[in-house]
Amino acid sequence: MKIKGQHYRTIWLKPDDPACVQIIDQRWLPHRFVIEDIRTVEEAARAIQEMHVRGAPLIGSAGAFGIYLAMLNLPEKSDWKKKLMEAAALLKSTRPTAVNLAYAVDLSVKKILMENEKKEGVGRALETAKLITEESVEHCREIGKYGLPLIQKISEQKNGEPVNVLTHCNAGWLACIDYGTATAPVYAAHDAGIKVHVWVDETRPRNQGARITAFELLEHGVPHTIIADNTGGHLMQHGMVDLVIVGTDRTTRTGDVANKIGTYLKALAAYDNKVPFYIGLPSSSIDWELEDGVAEIPIEKRSGDEIKFMQGLEKDEIKKVLITPEKSPVANYAFDVTPARLVTGLITERGICGANEKELLNLFPEKK
Ligand code: MRU
Repeated sequence: MKIKGQHYRTIWLKPDDPACVQIIDQRWLPHRFVIEDIRTVEEAARAIQEMHVRGAPLIGSAGAFGIYLAMLNLPEKSDWKKKLMEAAALLKSTRPTAVNLAYAVDLSVKKILMENEKKEGVGRALETAKLITEESVEHCREIGKYGLPLIQKISEQKNGEPVNVLTHCNAGWLACIDYGTATAPVYAAHDAGIKVHVWVDETRPRNQGARITAFELLEHGVPHTIIADNTGGHLMQHGMVDLVIVGTDRTTRTGDVANKIGTYLKALAAYDNKVPFYIGLPSSSIDWELEDGVAEIPIEKRSGDEIKFMQGLEKDEIKKVLITPEKSPVANYAFDVTPARLVTGLITERGICGANEKELLNLFPEKK
């Protein structure tokens, strides 16, 4: 996607320096556009943990590139297989909910362990990181392709009036490598000349919607409006939302969907108001091992400071201010689970299906 007319992905190998991975440091968006150099697995782990990079598909790629950096920096004669396993454990411990991270790290390790020499292992690691990254771009493009007719149909029913899509958090290209998951159908519709408008949930506590989704929609020229998190229900009651599309960090084989905290409440409001509620997801976000999302998906708890403090711009300086009583306890659950019964459909890279095991397995028969 483009920023100020220049095409960017969210992660790439530095041109002319294959020992350096570059990322867009999302902590400073929308006020600063900062590119960060990552040279070690520890730096990669910190970037994931502290959310310089975030969003399920992107942390998958970052994890795979982290493994590549770990391999690259290991001494030739060391017990490199043991150290590789330590690097994998470090990366996987950074963020527990998004299954893409564990998937990418485990796949990288599996490919590397097919080699006996460290040098060949480095090559495998880079090849796998690039493969995961390219696959993610392709999957997001396909999600856009399959999601587009949903928006097109509503546009026709509304005689070309703007289609109002509500989204939560950032499941855009900044959460992925390009296109996004939830936003891919929106970009596809906008690029096809269909009038579309996005209600952007601010998404407390880290405001990924207000800061990041709004930034990328603005850069792409998609009409949008930022709303406080609690506004969606009111808009739905008044017919101002045609469709909800969100992303997911982990979806079970039965169609239960973990996504940013607050998604479940939007699904309940959508259900009550008969607003279609879709999930845009690549198959790398499906955990084929799990059946009961509420009971089994690990929910990340993050620092209470994310709730106590708000970040913003004042006189060209990015500042954090305390917004709660200093001594009040806080609880910061980062994700929740929307049960499959509240989900209208899953938009995957192979097409749209119902949120249930049978229809998912029809699309992905190799998982039977
Ligand atoms: O904590 P984050 O910002 O990494 O959470 C991201 C989300 O919840 C997104 O909605 C989800 O990852 C889907 S990303 C395509």
